[in-house]
Amino acid sequence: MRIVLENVHKVFNQGRPNAHEAIRGVSLSIEPNRVTCLKGASGSGKSTLLSMIGCLSRPTAGRIHLGERLLSGLPERFLTDIRRHTFGFIFQQFNLISGLSVLENIMLPAYPLAPDHRQLTATASALLDRFGLAHKARNPVQWLSGGEAQRVAICRALINDPRILIADEPTANLDTRLSRDFMEQIRRLRESGRTVLITSHDPVVFDSPVVERVIELCDGQVVGG
Ligand SMILES: Nc1ncnc2c1ncn2[C@@H]1O[C@H](COP(=O)(O)OP(=O)(O)O)[C@@H](O)[C@H]1O
Ligand SMILES: [Mg+2]
Repeated sequence: MRIVLENVHKVFNQGRPNAHEAIRGVSLSIEPNRVTCLKGASGSGKSTLLSMIGCLSRPTAGRIHLGERLLSGLPERFLTDIRRHTFGFIFQQFNLISGLSVLENIMLPAYPLAPDHRQLTATASALLDRFGLAHKARNPVQWLSGGEAQRVAICRALINDPRILIADEPTANLDTRLSRDFMEQIRRLRESGRTVLITSHDPVVFDSPVVERVIELCDGQVVGG
């Protein structure tokens, strides 16, 4: 589904002396089934924009459309529902829950959707298998190498079979080789027909042939792409 932003603004601490306009009138149309990178220096507003697209926060002004739906004005529970069904998230630190196994971490985002446990375990195991980690299913995540943790984070983002995958600076803590591996995984996902939205200021990401479009942000505004 196409993501359309119309004149989106985000003000933090609105009305207070420390008010800060992090996003200042962004209009964009992001094509479905493409890999798009939001590029920009630290503080340019990449995470703020992603969190609004991913229904984790709301714009202060402007509209966001997801396919046929207009997100603005939807009650919180609808947003939560859309978020769970539409998006998979990969974060910079991967945010795996230590103390839980690889399999448990991957299944976590599915629990609120109350799936059949047996089926869920089968889906999670199939994902692990696809990413070459079947033998690690019962391991605690804190035992994983950086590259394994990265693939577990991808599996977790895919557990609800999201149409849109969002990755916020996914290579920030990876060396060049693992960053390239990450982009290779993204290429495979792209081929399975998914929209991928990545933020990064890492050239391994924005210069990658896997990325089909680069949108550049500067001080909360689109300056290119
Ligand atoms: N919760 C918040 N409260 C106040 N300011 C924030 C908050 N989140 C981000 N900001 C500010 O908004 C700007 C954009 O931040 P962010 O979207 O995190 O940038 P990026 O992801 O490109 O590094 C920064 O100046 C940041 O300090
Ligand atoms: Mg950020």
